[in-house]
Order: sequence, then structure tokens, then C-alpha cells
Amino acid sequence: MRFLAILPILLCAAALVLSFLCLFAGSSKGFMEEYALVTLNTSQFGSTLFNTSESSTNPFLSLLDNATNSIESSLNADLASVAQDLGLHDFYSAHILNYCEGYYTPGPVPNATLSKHDIHRNITACSNKTAGYTFDPRATLAHELNTSTNGLAGKLNLTDLNWPAEIDKGLHALRIASIAMFALYCVGIAFIALALLLALASIFFQGRLSSFVNVLVDCLAFLAIGLASAIATAIAVKAADVINSYGKDVGISAQKGSRFLVLTWVATALMLGASLTWCAECVAGRGAKRTRRSEKRGYGEDGGY
Ligand SMILES: *[C@@H]1O[C@H](CO)[C@@H](O)[C@H](O)[C@H]1NC(C)=O
Ligand SMILES: *[C@@H]1O[C@H](CO)[C@@H](O)[C@H](O)[C@H]1NC(C)=O
Ligand SMILES: *[C@@H]1O[C@H](CO)[C@@H](O)[C@H](O)[C@H]1NC(C)=O
Ligand SMILES: *[C@@H]1O[C@H](CO)[C@@H](O)[C@H](O)[C@H]1NC(C)=O
Ligand SMILES: *[C@@H]1O[C@H](CO)[C@@H](O)[C@H](O)[C@H]1NC(C)=O
Ligand SMILES: *[C@@H]1O[C@H](CO)[C@@H](O)[C@H](O)[C@H]1NC(C)=O
Ligand SMILES: *[C@@H]1O[C@H](CO)[C@@H](O)[C@H](O)[C@H]1NC(C)=O
Ligand SMILES: *[C@@H]1O[C@H](CO)[C@@H](O)[C@H](O)[C@H]1NC(C)=O
Repeated sequence: MRFLAILPILLCAAALVLSFLCLFAGSSKGFMEEYALVTLNTSQFGSTLFNTSESSTNPFLSLLDNATNSIESSLNADLASVAQDLGLHDFYSAHILNYCEGYYTPGPVPNATLSKHDIHRNITACSNKTAGYTFDPRATLAHELNTSTNGLAGKLNLTDLNWPAEIDKGLHALRIASIAMFALYCVGIAFIALALLLALASIFFQGRLSSFVNVLVDCLAFLAIGLASAIATAIAVKAADVINSYGKDVGISAQKGSRFLVLTWVATALMLGASLTWCAECVAGRGAKRTRRSEKRGYGEDGGY
């Protein structure tokens, strides 16, 4: 029995669970919603356009007669829910397989009585799971504006609301990276599962070859999940950056998913640990063998017994 195999077994099992969670976080309503790659906050989208103190000189407002009046009156009552007045959601959170949408409760903007930590996400819906999903908020927002039930349907589009085209361009550039990230998570999970099986098998099948195969598979698993984590980090940082820099003027902001990033990098660290354990075992095994051999030779040379 090779008791040292217990450590890599535990590490691989933990890494397998964590990388599964990375892949499936947020894939159904209410399941690990806080573990989004990036969250788009549209709760104040359009608030600058509907600024009532400028309404007399605002061509946008005069364009929309009746519907706008109702919006303005509700805005006056509660400026916190611009997105809801437009028929949009407060936030759209991008996951690896899909996106979710919902409202901030009790309100989207922290104020004197509402601290940032008391704001929670209330999910209303998640899109279907799609392999190689790419976050495309424009399509979602355009559809929701067009089908809103508050009398604005078909009267407003994203162009009217000054949706920045740079955001679409920036997110579109991440399309290939998103597909690569998804593929690498799948490959990583496959290799981690294989590493776990090999570690279990190595309890019964000992020897240099077994250790060597374990080192190889664990390193490949580490490489795949590490690369996936790196790409996920790049996507989260880049998407949040693009949205924050171009969306500021129209009330859009984004936040990268710190919790998701912690999760994926912990999984990577666990696989690094498993790889190093097997390396150490390989070296130790070789050392033990050499000692044993030289001991044997020593007895032979003495020959006296
Ligand atoms: C509305 O416009 C005024 C004057 O331009 C500005 O001071 C104020 O911050 C604006 N309010 C919002 C909510 O954008
Ligand atoms: C505005 O509302 C009034 C009454 O609700 C309606 O008669 C009128 O046709 C509306 N105007 C437009 C342009 O929708
Ligand atoms: C803070 O925001 C919440 C939710 O939008 C609202 O109910 C509350 O009245 C606000 N408090 C103040 C002091 O504006
Ligand atoms: C949402 O965005 C608005 C405007 O950018 C910001 O004031 C608010 O704090 C954000 N809310 C959350 C929960 O991040
Ligand atoms: C979440 O939203 C639903 C309806 O959209 C509402 O019934 C529920 O009370 C909300 N939950 C919280 C915690 O606010
Ligand atoms: C999501 O999946 C359900 C059932 O699997 C299907 O009926 C529905 O049309 C799908 N929605 C979209 C937007 O693809
Ligand atoms: C808006 O909805 C109508 C029908 O509901 C549809 O004909 C039109 O193509 C939609 N426009 C956009 C931009 O989605
Ligand atoms: C959006 O609205 C503007 C003005 O109302 C119009 O010129 C433009 O063609 C519309 N775009 C789409 C995609 O419907």
C-alpha cells in the first residue's frame, strides 16, 4: 500500500469538485449566483437621459411623449429603478455556460441607510446552458427593450439610449477567448478526473511507471486548469474594464467576479500541489530503490555471511 497516494487523491478530488463548480456556477437559477465571471450593472442605465432637470432641452424626451411622461413621473418618485422603468433588469451576470438576470434588493444604489453589503441579487431568470457561451448584453437588452410591457415596446432602442458601441466591440473581441476557456475547463476536468483515477489505482499498482504516469497526467491537468483560470481572469478583467470605461457616461458599470476567480485559482493550486506530491514521490522512490540496490551490493561484496 502506498500511503503517500492519499494526499494526491484528496487534492485531485477537491480540485475536481471546485473545477466542476467553476463550470456550472450560475447555470441554474439560484445556484452559486455570486460566482459570476463578470456582472453588468444596468440599474442606472439611461438615468442621465431621463434627467428631469434638463427635460426642456432634451430632444430625447420630447421624442417620447406619452410613455416618457409616465417614466418621468415614476423617476421622480423613485430614481433608483431606471432600468425597471425601461423594462430592463438591474444586473446581468455572465457565467461560463450562460447568463442570469435579476434585480438588486432592497435597492440598486447604496445610500445613507442601505450599505453596500446589504444589497443582494434577486435572480429572476437564467438563460439556457450553451457550450462555448459568449456574453452579449446588447442582444439581451435590445430584446428586453423591444418587448417591455410598460408602453415603451418598439419605441426605444439601444441607440436612443446611447449604448456605447465600444462595449460591443470590446466584448466581441473576447469571443474566441470565451470558447477557448470553456474548452480548457472541459479538458482540465477530464484530466483531473483521470488523475484522480490514476491516484486511486496507484494504491494497488506501485512502481516507477505508475509514479511517472501520475506526474505526467497531473501536470497536464494543472496546465489545462491553470490556462483556463488565466483566460478566465483575463476575460473578467478585460470585460469589466471595457464596460466601466465606456459605460460610465450612460450609467453602466461592471464588476469582475472575485469569488469565481478565487475558486478557479484554488482549483489550480490544488492541482499544482498534486503534481508536486507525485514529483516528490518519484524522486523519493528512486532514492529508496538506489539505497536498496547499494545495500544489496554491499552485502554481496562483504560475502562473509
Ligand atoms: C442632471 O443634470 C444636472 C445638470 O446637468 C446634473 O447636475 C445632475 O447631476 C444630473 N442628474 C443625474 C441623475 O444625472
Ligand atoms: C398619448 O396618450 C393619449 C391618451 O392616453 C392618446 O390619446 C394619444 O394618442 C397618445 N399619443 C401618442 C403619440 O401615443
Ligand atoms: C435607500 O435606498 C432604499 C432602497 O432603494 C430606500 O428604500 C431608502 O429609502 C433609501 N434611503 C435613503 C435615506 O435615501
Ligand atoms: C450599480 O451601478 C450604479 C451606477 O453605476 C452604482 O451607483 C451602484 O452602486 C451599483 N450597484 C451595485 C450593487 O453594484
Ligand atoms: C425576489 O423577487 C421576487 C419576485 O420577482 C419576490 O417575490 C421576492 O420576494 C424577491 N426576494 C427578495 C429576497 O427580495
Ligand atoms: C431553453 O430550453 C427549453 C427546454 O430545454 C426550450 O423549450 C427553450 O426554447 C430554450 N430557450 C431558448 C432561448 O433557447
Ligand atoms: C421588435 O419586436 C417586433 C415584434 O414584436 C419585431 O418585429 C422586431 O423585429 C423587433 N425588433 C428588434 C430590433 O428586435
Ligand atoms: C433606433 O432608433 C433610431 C431613432 O429612433 C432609429 O434611427 C434607428 O434606426 C433605430 N435602430 C434600430 C436598430 O431599430
